[in-house]
Amino acid sequence: MNKFKGHFITFEGGDGAGKSTQIRILQERLTDRGYEVIATREPGGTQISENIREILLDPENTDMDPMTETMLYAAARAQLVSEVIRPALERGAVVICDRFVDSSIAYQGHGRGLGDAVSQINAHGIGDCMPDLTIYLHLDPGIGSQRIGDREKDRIEQEDHEFHLRVSEGFRRQVESDPGRIFVVDAVGSIQEIADRIEEKVMEIIHEV
Ligand code: TYD
Repeated sequence: MNKFKGHFITFEGGDGAGKSTQIRILQERLTDRGYEVIATREPGGTQISENIREILLDPENTDMDPMTETMLYAAARAQLVSEVIRPALERGAVVICDRFVDSSIAYQGHGRGLGDAVSQINAHGIGDCMPDLTIYLHLDPGIGSQRIGDREKDRIEQEDHEFHLRVSEGFRRQVESDPGRIFVVDAVGSIQEIADRIEEKVMEIIHEV
């Protein structure tokens, strides 16, 4: 039984998997069905979290310690949960968030090698605001970085191929450990096809919880 009136859906996936397009389409479709939809993103979504985002993604911050990085993502998240996500879920909205704690577990836990510390650091800020459903857009990391191409890469995107392979492996393990919540969608296919698969799963969850 869901503790909130609303529904919390997150999107995850490596860089270049097409999350923002799919989030926009899902937002439109749910709005058309009459739901109040709040779409937000991480790191960001509030003024304070957007300020933290700038520090996190600034390519000049080459000497950022992995623990500092983890705590800044967690801090941006805590603010987003208390200012946007929790109030929206309490009043019955559907919240769609571009990335959430699974990203920290994959990027900082696996990519940076900080392991279980990442979940512990995040637990206080998240509380009981865990997603009802997480859509994981799966894409081979090599294809992802090709899709990003030559556009200017942020500090995390600039990491080497090995880092992105560890991140991908991190996501794979999370899917394995929580298959009931995380729904894997192959990110290779037509935009409409992928959108239809996502909508079908989301409606199933909305009707069920
Ligand atoms: P963003 O521009 O939002 O990337 P994308 O469009 O791929 O979502 O930048 C977010 C970057 O931060 C992205 O490379 C993944 C990384 N990240 C983490 O390392 N840990 C986290 O907890 C989150 C939320 C994102």
